[in-house]
Amino acid sequence: MSYQIVEKKEIASSVHMMKIKAPDVAKAAKAGQFIILRIDETSERVPLTIADFDSNEGTVTIIYQEMGKTTKQLAKMSASEELQDFVGPLGTPADVRKLGTVILVGGGVGIAPVYPQVKAYREAGNKVISVIGARNESLLILEDEMREASDELHVATDDGSKGHHGFVTDVVKNILDSGEKVARIVVIGPPILMKVAAGMTEPYGVETIVSLNPIMIDGTGMCGGCRVSVGGETKFACVDGPEFDAHKVDFNLLMSRLALYRSEESKCQENHDHKCTCRGEH
Ligand SMILES: Cc1cc2nc3c(=O)[nH]c(=O)nc-3n(C[C@H](O)[C@H](O)[C@H](O)COP(=O)(O)OP(=O)(O)OC[C@H]3O[C@@H](n4cnc5c(N)ncnc54)[C@H](O)[C@@H]3O)c2cc1C
Ligand code: FES
Repeated sequence: MSYQIVEKKEIASSVHMMKIKAPDVAKAAKAGQFIILRIDETSERVPLTIADFDSNEGTVTIIYQEMGKTTKQLAKMSASEELQDFVGPLGTPADVRKLGTVILVGGGVGIAPVYPQVKAYREAGNKVISVIGARNESLLILEDEMREASDELHVATDDGSKGHHGFVTDVVKNILDSGEKVARIVVIGPPILMKVAAGMTEPYGVETIVSLNPIMIDGTGMCGGCRVSVGGETKFACVDGPEFDAHKVDFNLLMSRLALYRSEESKCQENHDHKCTCRGEH
């Protein structure tokens, strides 16, 4: 079985959107879940969050940033090409219910996984305040879609090229300080952002949820690769998560485990670039 790419475009510098024909995944998908894909039988398995799905059309949308060998290879594929494997939906769906006011925070490519949650929390009857941020305006994704799906949208950029000059966490702090009664905050982005956000919200006593992105291999709880520590207990992010209580996550362990294979990943990237140049492949 193979999975056709029905649409593909670069939506920000080195960030790509791909719509894949995968009717079974689209039918079962819920906000907060992810897929694992393989480009071909020799390629590695890459976990990516379901950024959108359409069960009538039978399509699933993924949004990914070029990081290393596989995401760069994926970036060179075009509509009508096929992926060998597209397994999902995996992971536990987000616990979306009516709570009152919910702040959803997306940092960088983390805006993509936040988007289906914004729609789901709003559909469940919540007031949804979205806060999105990136290093600069050219890296900001899904701004129009997020504005349309949210009751309120705030933008922050590290260099001040759009919206608040600073971090998304500054904006969330301002909202909390304004006296707005917030029932829950969901933060998805780089581990350092999730760690800082968890430390910032803890004194306010507002429930804070993060979506963790440890190295995953099988995605079904068998290999232990995605081991994280939450409240002193070992959890497997692929089956117990990827969402966890931010105030209980050991972010230092998460970050050190993510860096474990950095030298192998760079060698793999260098070998791939070398082969591409020698063979003139693109
Ligand atoms: C549940 C989950 C959801 C994710 N959703 C998204 C998403 O929606 N969009 C997006 O751009 N990225 C997402 N990621 C991260 C994405 O999987 C990695 O960027 C990708 O695997 C990098 O592969 P590579 O070969 O291009 O780069 P590599 O050079 O192999 O790795 C670059 C970095 O990516 C991370 N990484 C590498 N392999 C894996 C792996 N098997 N599992 C997890 N992380 C890995 C490591 O931090 C590594 O240092 C998600 C990760 C997880 C676990
Ligand atoms: S990826 Fe293997 S146990 Fe989670």
